Amino acid sequence: MSAKIISGNEVSKQLKDEMKEEVVKLKAQGMEPCLSVILVGEDPASKVYVLNKKKACEYIGIKSLETRLPATTTTEELLKVIEGYNNDKTVHGILCQLPLPKHIPETKILRAILPEKDVDCFHPFNVGLISIGEVRFLPCTPAGVIELIKRGGFETAGKDVVILGRSNIVGRPLSNMLDQRDMNATVTMCHTKTKNLKERCAAADIVIGAIGRPEYVKADMVKEGAVVIDVGINRVDAPGTEKGFKLVGDVAFDEVKEKAAAITPVPGGVGPMTIAMLMKNTLTAAKEAFFKK
Ligand code: GUN
Repeated sequence: MSAKIISGNEVSKQLKDEMKEEVVKLKAQGMEPCLSVILVGEDPASKVYVLNKKKACEYIGIKSLETRLPATTTTEELLKVIEGYNNDKTVHGILCQLPLPKHIPETKILRAILPEKDVDCFHPFNVGLISIGEVRFLPCTPAGVIELIKRGGFETAGKDVVILGRSNIVGRPLSNMLDQRDMNATVTMCHTKTKNLKERCAAADIVIGAIGRPEYVKADMVKEGAVVIDVGINRVDAPGTEKGFKLVGDVAFDEVKEKAAAITPVPGGVGPMTIAMLMKNTLTAAKEAFFKK
């Protein structure tokens, strides 16, 4: 049996269409949601991400502002830009694109963004809220993973979930979200020092790969009928192709899809969901500011 392919392209389009309708209603009430994006330096991948965020804003009807700063920008200069957006009541969400140039301390910058405008959900205050089940925002990639599981028609309550990878951006917040009372999963976090990793994976109802290792999860690590979500985006050499490389996930897609009940592809799986969830957080921030002022 071949797995159901859970398409992030389709689900994210659905979400964006729902948000587009919501924005029409919000605008009719006199509110214009607005996201400000800050890009420091010339990282080509970051430029593409920022452009995609801007396009998503345009599609949904969210106003987007952008500040581009040179790679030589000082921490103080960047903090001034953030302060300006923090104090601007017409701006509801602020995102500072990562990675930052090496001389700028990332944690200091991310903590300078007001928690109520922190649509990435990277501020320790918002991260802490998740762990006590009082959610304001959800971090975009983990929220995208959960949305794919739900909209794929799969239940998490009572299920054994194995998460490969304990990053602050994906694995750890995802674990915090899945064992809350609204999700009720039993979560095992696996990492480089985990014993019997293969066996743990093979016993799981849901496997989530977020380690950044190309095609690490093989068919013998997956239970028949499991749901497999692939967060990895890895560039591997592909001689003879136009670009000379291709993108693969953390899961060996071709072999695992023959065993799993459902699987997300790379590209076109979790990736497009991250931006959709960023848009959702921006609307949440705007509604909080507008209706609860
Ligand atoms: N760089 C790569 N992904 C992200 C993201 O989700 N948020 C920010 N701020 N920077 C990133």
